[in-house]
Amino acid sequence: MSEQAPVTLALTRGRILDDCLPLLARAGVVPEEHPAKSRKLVFRTSDPGIRLLVLRGSDVPVYVRHGAADAGVVGRDVLMEAGSDGLYELLDLGIARCRLMTAGLAGSPEPGPRARVATKFVNIARRFYASKGIQADIIELSGAMELAPVLGLAERIVDIVDTGNTLRANGLEALETIAEVSARLIVNKAAMKLRPEPLKALVARFAAVTGSAP
Ligand code: PRP
Repeated sequence: MSEQAPVTLALTRGRILDDCLPLLARAGVVPEEHPAKSRKLVFRTSDPGIRLLVLRGSDVPVYVRHGAADAGVVGRDVLMEAGSDGLYELLDLGIARCRLMTAGLAGSPEPGPRARVATKFVNIARRFYASKGIQADIIELSGAMELAPVLGLAERIVDIVDTGNTLRANGLEALETIAEVSARLIVNKAAMKLRPEPLKALVARFAAVTGSAP
């Protein structure tokens, strides 16, 4: 990697991207096109030293861990699920705040020693229920988790809750908070050693516009 190559920053599409673009703009980084309105996946920016990738959240740590991206912005939920091997988690950006929670049909009884749990957060769910002495039979889904209790597929779900509207609209209630979630800035450990100047500068710019301490 040459010193001149732009720093590649992987962003998470969706809510995190919506909250992250204004932060980046305040840091002087504006993509050549609006990523949410484009089919492109790589974007040059107003800063020739920074290019952006726009990915699914679960893919952001994969790109960063393997060094295909130098840094990334991703939810704490994704990091908790995927682990942080090969990554530094350097800043809490304080954006895209939500909670990782368990939920079930409103008024449903407490599960016994075993519970069927539908989620895309397989590792987090297994760990959480194990810590309560409950064996979770995990049903892995990639979306629309809220349907699972309604149709009798699972007694509980583990999912992100923001406004709670999705749960309410489907007759579910939020139960236990597993973690408070917000978007984090992650950096590839090897890239930090190989190119400390541009990466430290990127972290400092994020720290300045979020008021967080690196
Ligand atoms: C998340 C989550 C819930 C919803 C919760 O999905 O899976 O379905 O948001 O938000 P609320 O509490 O404000 O209703 P998202 O729309 O982010 O899509 P995803 O399933 O692709 O993560």
